[in-house]
Amino acid sequence: MKTKITQSPSIAARFIQHGELVAFPTETVYGLGANIFNEEAIRKIFTAKGRPADNPMIAHISDISQLESLTTHIPHTAQLLIDRFFPGPLTVILPRSDKVPSIATAGLETIGVRMPDHPIAQQFLRACKVPVVAPSANISGRPSPTTWQAVRQDLDGRIGCLLRGDQTRVGLESTVVDCTEEIPCVLRAGAVTLEHLREVMPETQMAELGPDALPKSPGMKYRHYSPRARVVICTYPQYLVASEASAYIGLEAPPREDEFKMIKICADINEYAHSIFHFFRECDEAGVDAIYCQAVIKEGLGVALMDRIERAAHP
Ligand code: TXA
Ligand code: MG
Repeated sequence: MKTKITQSPSIAARFIQHGELVAFPTETVYGLGANIFNEEAIRKIFTAKGRPADNPMIAHISDISQLESLTTHIPHTAQLLIDRFFPGPLTVILPRSDKVPSIATAGLETIGVRMPDHPIAQQFLRACKVPVVAPSANISGRPSPTTWQAVRQDLDGRIGCLLRGDQTRVGLESTVVDCTEEIPCVLRAGAVTLEHLREVMPETQMAELGPDALPKSPGMKYRHYSPRARVVICTYPQYLVASEASAYIGLEAPPREDEFKMIKICADINEYAHSIFHFFRECDEAGVDAIYCQAVIKEGLGVALMDRIERAAHP
């Protein structure tokens, strides 16, 4: 299959309407979308990505009115979070409507929904006229793509269309919050932090990672975010010594910067999160065999960033 690469949201939307897959930019990472009401099209996502069939996907909407076709009802907690954080890097888990094919949610009775805060994504989703179900646009297990070139690297020839945009702003996937129980629960950390959520819902909880969390958040059990190189978490960069083909990313510079094959010093945690997946891919291309990542404090965006780094380090 030849993959059409375009900058036109309306051309890309035509592929969705014809039951083909489209990779598109969002503010978090690039997504790989299909018409949520077209089962055949959704099946193609699993093939293109090599995705396990028990991993549910997120529905992307351009307008609040589209929620009607996706859910049976909107719980009060979800409504408060939607009012405050849509559009933006937040996914809310809601009760699923029968109109959504169960393959989209891996058979779950719930569905994750989000409204991206990205001009091209919004134009594209509006032109599609249906909600678009989309996981991240990478081969399963690889770091999520934050540039269109990363999507091309993984999926060229496997999808109908790639809608080009800039490098994504956030660089980490959306925060996922389960709103189907009384108390909202964060299943995946992201740029909408626990602190942000608690401003609206003070009782919001963080899911325990581990076996108990698995049934609620199937995606979290899979190997994720991994570059080919070994990822090593580094608490004290001031003592770090470069080895043969090693790389470093962090907020503070290690002593002998020039001895690293690849190095990225980030001005703040936002830049660190924005850069991490791209840096992983660059390191793979450069043939790096160990990537040292400076540990950051687990608060605010640091929770999401350390979650991704820890998963990459212990795949
Ligand atoms: O930022 C994002 O969320 C990106 C962009 C493209 O929107 N998408 C993304 O999708 O990261 P994906 O499929 O790579 O990750 C979706 C995560 C998985 O961990 C999955 O298990 C969880 O959300 N999820 C989706 N639907 C769920 C549901 N109904 N119940 C529990 N977890 C769900
Ligand atoms: Mg993913």
